[in-house]
Amino acid sequence: MHDGAVDLKVEARARIYAQPIAAVDPAQPDLFAQDAMWPIFERLRAEDPVHRTDSEAYGPFWSVTLWNDIMAVDSNHQVFSSADGITLQSLESKAENEKRGTRPSFISMDPPRHDEQRKTVSPVVAPSNLQTLGPLIRERAGQILDRLPIGDEFDWVEHVSKELTAMTLATLFDFPQAERQLLPYWSDMMTNAPGHGPVRSWEQKREVLDEMVGRFVGLWNERVNAPPAGDLISMLAHGASTRDMDRAEYAGNLGLLIIGGNDTTRNTISGSVYALNKHPGEYRRLRDDPSLIPSMVSETIRWQTPLAHMARTATQDFELGGKTIAAGDRVVMWYVSGNRDPGAVEDPEAYRIDRERPRHHMSFGFGIHRCVGNRLAELQLTIIWEEIMKRFPTIELAGEPQRTHSIFVKGYETLPVVIPARA
Ligand code: HEM
Repeated sequence: MHDGAVDLKVEARARIYAQPIAAVDPAQPDLFAQDAMWPIFERLRAEDPVHRTDSEAYGPFWSVTLWNDIMAVDSNHQVFSSADGITLQSLESKAENEKRGTRPSFISMDPPRHDEQRKTVSPVVAPSNLQTLGPLIRERAGQILDRLPIGDEFDWVEHVSKELTAMTLATLFDFPQAERQLLPYWSDMMTNAPGHGPVRSWEQKREVLDEMVGRFVGLWNERVNAPPAGDLISMLAHGASTRDMDRAEYAGNLGLLIIGGNDTTRNTISGSVYALNKHPGEYRRLRDDPSLIPSMVSETIRWQTPLAHMARTATQDFELGGKTIAAGDRVVMWYVSGNRDPGAVEDPEAYRIDRERPRHHMSFGFGIHRCVGNRLAELQLTIIWEEIMKRFPTIELAGEPQRTHSIFVKGYETLPVVIPARA
């Protein structure tokens, strides 16, 4: 059988290895969309682990690709500030943001403001709240799975991954469940550039996001006049460090929670079905021993690395890996590469659902910005798999996925599958 995707990857690998190392540039959404970026990171880890690129599309930036160097950057917020934004943005999208006005959120703040705002929203994902959420997520997961067709092809992203995460997020916001589909739609609007996902133009993106903010301002106004409750909007409206936020900061924090609480988990749910299909021996082991579900979940989070990078700005000159990063330079921590660093993870290219330390990965980051929702993400994934295993002996890929065109969100637009039979 002729597999065009394989040819494409072989070609990309040859091209990447033919370049002088100085010309190697990881900021290529086309390669991420084809899953063909891996040789870039393999080369950088081996030949130039702290690497400078002067990109026409993204401006100058440093790439940090080894586990220990990424840790050194992520855990040093004094030197590596988040205040100038935490993603490597194309110059085009930066110009668009400047036109629209930035929407700061606590992920792109340094202490003390970061710490105060993070503290305001963390109770929603505290263990006691997760205990309450667990049964609700299980009930919904069951309903979603019971509606799926048997023997007919369908899109797993649309019918399962988006559905479950939208339901959970609607609960966290106390947003009307009947309109939950708006949440992943807005999330896709925020993370895509024109021509990708649902985004057709910058104007359309601006209009839709203004509508989103309008809806949430309405909810804020309702909640601020009601007694404090346990949902995120009420927490922000009543929290001492957030109740005086302006509209832009409120919008920024909403964006953070919508993308954080949605895209990443959605793409891991899709990634788990894909990974297990590509590793049928591991899928068989999981079926034989469902107690492996939690470690399979963590291994998938490592293997998938739903957010490929986080970026920082140096506040002072800093030596890293024999290079001098100058004050003001942009620095990109490629988690997607750290998770495949053989110096930190044994046999990192393998997908193994019974690793001894399955949570040993960098997909949630480190330091003061480490993912606040990490336990909620694991909970949703664990529950959906427990419910899948009760119902379906297998879920089978019916074709290759369409991947997200992004150097930040590493995920799936579509994932065609068939469920041959019920258990
Ligand atoms: C598999 C799923 C997830 C992944 C891979 C993921 C990944 C990340 C990463 C890489 C960071 C930044 C870490 C750093 O800079 O050191 C982060 C921060 C954050 N995540 Fe997640 N996340 C996931 C799920 C969630 C969920 C379910 C929520 C919401 C309920 C959430 C909310 C947040 C928030 C609010 C932050 C900002 C924390 C801060 O700046 O202090 N994430 N996440």
